[in-house]
Amino acid sequence: MTRPWLKDAVFYEIYPQSFCDANGDGIGDIAGIIEKLDYIKSLGCNALWINPCFDSPFRDAGYDVRDYKKVAPRYGANEDLYRLFEVAHEKGIRVLLDLVPGHTSEEHEWFTRSGEAKPNAYSNRYIWTNHWWQGGNGLPYVGGERERDGTYILNFFKCQPALNYGFLNPTEPWQLPADHPDALATREAIKDVMRFWLGHGCDGFRVDMADSLVKRDDAQKSGTSAIWRDIRAMLDKEFPQAALVSEWSNPPLALRAGFDMDFCLNNWDTGYASLMRDYDQPVNNSYFKKDAPHRDIRRFLDVYEKWYADTAALGYISLISCNHDTTRPRFGLDARELKLAYAFLFTMPGVPFLYYGDEIGMRFLDVPTKEGGYTRTGSRTPMQWNGGKNLGFSTADAKDLYLPVDPAEDAPTVEAQANDPDSLLSFVKALMKLRHDREDLQADAPYAPLSEGPGEPFVYRRGRLVLAVNPTGQTLRAPAPVTGLRPIFALGEVNADGDALAMGPQAFVVMGE
Ligand code: NOJ
Repeated sequence: MTRPWLKDAVFYEIYPQSFCDANGDGIGDIAGIIEKLDYIKSLGCNALWINPCFDSPFRDAGYDVRDYKKVAPRYGANEDLYRLFEVAHEKGIRVLLDLVPGHTSEEHEWFTRSGEAKPNAYSNRYIWTNHWWQGGNGLPYVGGERERDGTYILNFFKCQPALNYGFLNPTEPWQLPADHPDALATREAIKDVMRFWLGHGCDGFRVDMADSLVKRDDAQKSGTSAIWRDIRAMLDKEFPQAALVSEWSNPPLALRAGFDMDFCLNNWDTGYASLMRDYDQPVNNSYFKKDAPHRDIRRFLDVYEKWYADTAALGYISLISCNHDTTRPRFGLDARELKLAYAFLFTMPGVPFLYYGDEIGMRFLDVPTKEGGYTRTGSRTPMQWNGGKNLGFSTADAKDLYLPVDPAEDAPTVEAQANDPDSLLSFVKALMKLRHDREDLQADAPYAPLSEGPGEPFVYRRGRLVLAVNPTGQTLRAPAPVTGLRPIFALGEVNADGDALAMGPQAFVVMGE
């Protein structure tokens, strides 16, 4: 089973480039994160996920790792990260780093050695065909870059050659089986990276493209899953409290592979996009959009509830406000709509993740691509702390910033919202506090839908609590088992009448004893 500390965990995702620049060079750093730990704590977040902060040529914002064991100089030194672990722990905050096990940068030393003509210990660390003209048998590949007579398989961008964990059923002479000693050596090398950071005090990892290890895997991902189970066994022995959250978005498979948590990502097959980001059509039809003409929470729940029923005993589904690959929810929703969306996301089971800046409703900005971000770049702009220079992110000249800050007159900031009881920030804090105060809102308390028909608010149960949300502009009523319960947290107008709830426009309530 999973780590006990996750029961009441709420994560905050930090994109280190853009969070806080302590040394005034225009880019965020680890010292900046340390400075803001009290702020993170004040939100009610007690765990962090930091996007890759390792040495890298940054052709994919750090997901192209050149040295797994070295902090990128632009963020500081390893000692700064060790210090972050220490200070965070003093404040009751755990820290997950980002592990990229599927590929490295083409500038990683392993790859340099692997591409040498003369065979060596790293020749099979990556997947190479046997001739410079030979294709990847359907897998993406690159040739003509190294002395070695062969082409190599990619995992993502051209700069990210796939590490070699073998093939489930090799069909070509150049494909190794997953139990080949060289494929096992790759696995051991990644374990070594994990031991290194865990030994220095990190609390686990978010795992990038966790399902991508064994190539030509079956639908159940049995080859890749076996590797994760082996890695989990190592952790259980050596670092039993270390937590793993997967970028997989298939909790039934990921949690059976040994992950504690798996993200529900913004892919259409998860239904998640229908909650806040259903705007790729003439009208915004997101569930939390006030004027959505055809909202239907079932689009999300049908997938979620299947996953939940299958995995509640195994681990957690992680719902997110956003992440560094996803358009910020503010793109389609205003502050009131965001409050309702977060109220729902942060009162569901599992372990939720808040993306930096979503707590103040930061905008998705129209900015040119940076470090392989493309359309993701607009969600990666600097955190907006106050009304000062560069909105408090950095003392550097604006032209030297990693990305521009929101130029709007009304750019939301922490400072402006901190003392406003009606702000999104204040709402998020109150919501998180409620979650920490009530075990029935935390990861393990059972969930069940109660009513959700068209023209009804969505009413659901968590433990002994009854919750309801009405995202529409009209008053809606639904039967709800609320006799003897009172509102312990509410937004908007709510009336309990016998075993029914009347929910005013854009309202949310938690009913409890
Ligand atoms: C998923 C990461 O979230 C994304 O940012 C990255 O570009 C790819 N994996 C490749 O590592």
